[in-house]
Formats: sequence, C-alpha cells, structure tokens
Amino acid sequence: MKICVVGLGNIGFNLFTYLGQRFSGEVIGVDVNESRVDELRRQGYRVTSDYRGLTGIDVWLMAPSTGNQGQNLFAALEEMIICPGSLISIESTLPPGTIGRVREFLEKKGFKLGTDIFLIHVPHRVMFGVDKTVCDTPRVMGAFTSACLEKGRQFYTPLVPLLVEVSDVRVAELCKVVENVKRYVDVAFAQEIYGYCVDQGMDFDDLRLAVNSKNNVELLGTDWGIGGECLPKDMSFLRTVCHSTLLEGAEQADRDYRDRIVQQVGSGKEVLVKGLSYKTGVKDLKHSRGVELARALEAAGNIVWVQDPLFTSDELRGAGFKAYDESDPENEKLDMTMDRVVLERQNVLNLK
Ligand SMILES: NC(=O)c1ccc[n+]([C@@H]2O[C@H](COP(=O)([O-])OP(=O)(O)OC[C@H]3O[C@@H](n4cnc5c(N)ncnc54)[C@H](O)[C@@H]3O)[C@@H](O)[C@H]2O)c1
Repeated sequence: MKICVVGLGNIGFNLFTYLGQRFSGEVIGVDVNESRVDELRRQGYRVTSDYRGLTGIDVWLMAPSTGNQGQNLFAALEEMIICPGSLISIESTLPPGTIGRVREFLEKKGFKLGTDIFLIHVPHRVMFGVDKTVCDTPRVMGAFTSACLEKGRQFYTPLVPLLVEVSDVRVAELCKVVENVKRYVDVAFAQEIYGYCVDQGMDFDDLRLAVNSKNNVELLGTDWGIGGECLPKDMSFLRTVCHSTLLEGAEQADRDYRDRIVQQVGSGKEVLVKGLSYKTGVKDLKHSRGVELARALEAAGNIVWVQDPLFTSDELRGAGFKAYDESDPENEKLDMTMDRVVLERQNVLNLK
C-alpha cells in the first residue's frame, strides 16, 4: 500500500512519522512549504513539494491547514493525481459545508464516489501536550456512501482506539467544530466567573474545587484568554453558518477579559509576563494570547519582560521580547524605581 500524507505541519508530520513506524508499505509526505520540505529532507524523511511525482497512491491522508474557505484543501485536491480505487481521507477540520463541496469537486472531475474512488472525513481530535500520537484519540468517521465507509473502516480500525461511524457525513464535519466551540464557550464562562470572584474577593480555585466535586460538572481554569489556532478558528467557522448570540457573547467575553487585564495593569509600569506559549506545556508562540497581551501592555505604555520555562532567553529575544532570567547574573534586571507587576497565566487577575 502506498500512502501519501498531505500537509506536514503539527498534525500531518506527526501522522507521517507514526505511519512510517506502523506500516511496511511506502509512506510519502507532501507539503507546499518548500523550506519545511527541505528541513525534513535534511533530517532524512521521504517528502516532497512536487505533486507531479506522486503517482499510484492508494491512500491520501489530507491534513493541510484548511483555510477559511477550505482553499488549501482544494488547492491540494487540484494537484493530486488521483488513481481509480484510491481512498481519500480528509483529516483537517472543515468549515461546515466543505465536505459537500469536496464531493462536487470530485464528481466534476468525473469520479463516482463509492465505486471509482472512496471519500471519507475523519477529523483530527488530538490534544497536543496530552496525547502522545495523533492516533491516540477515538475518531469519528463519516462518508457519502456505505462503500466509502467500508473502505475507511478497513484502513482506520487497526490504527485508532475507537472508530465512531456516523450515517451523515455532515455530522462528522460539524462534530469537530462543535467540540472546539464547546471548549471555547466553557473557557469564556470560566473567565467571566473568575472576574466575578475577583470583584467579590472570593477564591476562584476554591470555587472550582467546590463545583468540580460533582462528577457531571466541570468549571475550567483560565489562561491569558482563548488562544491557539484551533479554538478561535473553529468558532469563526461555526459563527459563519450558525447565528448565535451565545457564541457572539463568548467571543466578546474573551476580548473583554484581556482588556480587563490591560486596564488593571494601567501604564508606566514594569510588567513581568510569566508564560508566553499559547498553552502550558506546548512550545509554540503562534496564536498565543500571551503574546497578544504582552504587546497590548507595551502599547499601553509599560515596559514588558517575559519568561517561559519552555523557551531560552535567546529564543524569547529572537521572538522580539525582553527576556527576564533571574538565574543569569548578566541579565538586565527590572528597574527597581518603577512600579512592578507580575502576571501569572493561571491567575492573571490576582495581581502581585
Ligand atoms: N494542531 C492541532 O492541535 C490540531 C488538532 C486537531 C485538528 N487540527 C486541524 O488539522 C489541520 C492541520 O493542522 P496543523 O496544526 O497541522 O496545521 P499547520 O499549520 O501546522 O500545518 C499545515 C501544513 O499544511 C501545509 N499546506 C497548506 N496547503 C497545502 C497544500 N495545498 N498542499 C500541501 N500542504 C499544504 C502547510 O504548508 C503546513 O505545513 C487543520 O485543519 C487543523 O484545524 C489541528
């Protein structure tokens, strides 16, 4: 069997290496980002940026970043040399309605689903920082025909702990987006309740312990806000198709939360922001609300220092921040003449 993984980012590369260890057949990767491909090639991986050499592929596993209209996915589909009998599995998160457009796209190319080719949607649900590999979580699978489902079942059953099949492929599409939006709303709610606790002089951590002592309730913790790529993106996917004042309110609540932090700090201070990655335990500054907050505090007229155990001082400086390292005697120290504020990601409204 010849498998090609499309898109070698966080998800795709993890999938590519996992399959490389699991399958005796060929596993190839393709990505349009030339520098990414060069970097992986130098590390000895069999990857390419040229779709023209990818012939005779039995299984296409598609994990590109989708694009807000699904444009990256369609760009990839346009380039793929699709053989009769092949399985195309879309693992990226899709804006609702996209899988229907993929079907139209393939039918316009002359393929009949379930006989000529087999299309399935098996959205990713990995939680980096929690799961070890991208195949550790139960997966949901949907398709337009039972023959497509059968082909998908044969491929994924040995690969994942549980395969949940749904009869309407739109359910598979929506379930991933809903999963992330549900978390978004839960965090926004936690942020609001945290703010209320601070106003009332109550301990939010105590409240969480109390609430979470009942097994069907979970009041989440808070961070710098709702960051990372997936939660805000999937919220916008859902809001595009589903009018909801609740969702609109959750987005506003998240903006208000960061505004409150900035207002609370004020201006003319030295601020130490502790923890900058988009979430605890994952070394990635992309889509980080911590980065957004640090910039907003600077714009408000503060001198902002940052510290993150996942990054060296050089890495933080390279990212354009003033890195604070108390163990480095050569490091510039906070100016003792100015008012100082220390912000901790999990209790940012409890100023020290
Ligand atoms: N990262 C996560 O935690 C996570 C979890 C679940 C689902 N997802 C979803 O999985 C998908 C991929 O996420 P990611 O975090 O790996 O993204 P990423 O940005 O890390 O990587 C995406 C890769 O796709 C490549 N790409 C874009 N267009 C392409 C094309 N036409 N052909 C080939 N490659 C192309 C990009 O160059 C990039 O390397 C997204 O839909 C995302 O929402 C991500």
